[in-house]
Amino acid sequence: MSSLEVVWSDLVRHRQDFADFHLRKAFAEDPARFDRYSAQMDECLTLDYSRNYVNDKTLLLLENLLLQAGVAERFQDMKSGVAINNTENRSVLHIALRGSVSDDLQVNGQMVAADINAVKNRLYAFAEGVRDGSIAASDGKPFTDVVNIGIGGSDLGPHMVTRALAAFHDGPNVHFVSNVDGAHMGDTLKLLDPARTLFLVASKTFTTQETMTNARAAKAWLVSALGDDAVGAHFAALSTNKEGVEGFGISSERMFEFWDWVGGRYSVWSAIGLPVMIAIGPDGFEDFLAGANAMDEHFGTAPFRENIPMLLAALGLWYRNVWSCSSMAVLPYDQRLEYFSAFLQQLDMESNGKRVRRDGSDILRATGPVIWGAAGTNGQHAFYQELHQGHDIIPCEFMVAANPTDADTGQHELLLSNCFAQVEALAMGRTEEEARAQLLASGKSEDAAALLAPHKVFPGNRPSSLLFYDQLTPKMLGRLIALYEQKVFVQGVVWGINSYDQWGVELGKELANKLAPAVKSAERGEGDPAILDRLKAYRMV
Ligand code: F6P
Repeated sequence: MSSLEVVWSDLVRHRQDFADFHLRKAFAEDPARFDRYSAQMDECLTLDYSRNYVNDKTLLLLENLLLQAGVAERFQDMKSGVAINNTENRSVLHIALRGSVSDDLQVNGQMVAADINAVKNRLYAFAEGVRDGSIAASDGKPFTDVVNIGIGGSDLGPHMVTRALAAFHDGPNVHFVSNVDGAHMGDTLKLLDPARTLFLVASKTFTTQETMTNARAAKAWLVSALGDDAVGAHFAALSTNKEGVEGFGISSERMFEFWDWVGGRYSVWSAIGLPVMIAIGPDGFEDFLAGANAMDEHFGTAPFRENIPMLLAALGLWYRNVWSCSSMAVLPYDQRLEYFSAFLQQLDMESNGKRVRRDGSDILRATGPVIWGAAGTNGQHAFYQELHQGHDIIPCEFMVAANPTDADTGQHELLLSNCFAQVEALAMGRTEEEARAQLLASGKSEDAAALLAPHKVFPGNRPSSLLFYDQLTPKMLGRLIALYEQKVFVQGVVWGINSYDQWGVELGKELANKLAPAVKSAERGEGDPAILDRLKAYRMV
């Protein structure tokens, strides 16, 4: 048995130590539990993981798990440009975009930092130009609206970040269109004036069906209003595919490149971040990068018990593989992080939702859980019922800021108190005696109290962690995203996964491209009899 498997067996055995464990009891027995099981970074970000199934032995075993899996060595490989994305023979260097690799690193004979800086200078000049009106529409007047056309990593990252940093916006309005459903583009264009609108076509490959279809629709809309000559001024591209961009009719001066060592879901730090740069300006974007860089530094240097990404990753592995928890909720008490869980779904599930190891052999244990969630307090009025009283245990990660980013509306204490109340309720629960006593105190009869009490029992002992940060600034958001990127990295290393490819999305794409012409001809009552029959059965033709 490998040393890693030995630690897994130790962890499975260690679960038995929790047979009588209840968080209520754990806190009663150890009032210093929070101090023991919390970690801090830069005095502005705290991870409180005291409401988890952990004791000192758990942490020792989990630390050993990461050690035996070689997490530190694999991070060194990443930083040195080793092609850790082995199925595509690519380095994985999104961390270089935030200055977390050495300045003289070369990949395929290219100086990584120099290439990044050259493109970044062009991006910042373009963003500033759009913001101050020196890069103008075809009539010489400033743009008021920017539409990012992209999907997956070319949409979710910049969309989530742009929304999250709304308090820092001082540029034109930024919109996002991703879905091939024509309603998405249609509804967006309805609000816009073609003469005032700049389109950014964001696609690493510049071949993605949805993005190219939407880009063509946007071009047709613009040309029908302003003529062919306006395209040059009203379009720019963010891509690795120069030929594709030029073929679409966007000149290379309007193309901002990135590199095959930036995965789509890790690309918000690259040219794909242009909508963010336009919304908050290059200085704000630099702060965003600096926050991520600080998290990389923390991840690479902090000891395990102070290392926030490692702790969250380790807890996730513990719940997924030893406690068989198949889903995990991320619950930001921050309305501006309303797209955070959608962003994390791609980051985590496209990275670690895999069933073979890097060498193609089967992974014999469960891998990436289902990641889901919504902003609090809204979620409380939707799915928290199940978190508190449902059958399954769903570990939760709560997030909340000490201070709001806008002038205080007097409502922030309510947000904070709701968040604190939920973590407390999940952990402590309410016993049947407490429920009955409460009912009697409210004037219910003995019989009525006995009948209702079981429904008002909260088992408690539901694990959760809390990320508490001072304020949702660009720098803090950079820290938080990099934290989750590193969490995913650690889990991928322990499971032996290549977290940086995504073959699982290919089959559906291939079939959709094959089916599109057949569906079109079937709609006309012609073509492939199988499709025709299917559409007939659905009463479509
Ligand atoms: O759906 C898979 C995927 O390849 C993602 O990984 C990627 O973020 C998205 O499609 C968009 O790809 P592109 O940027 O090449 O258009």
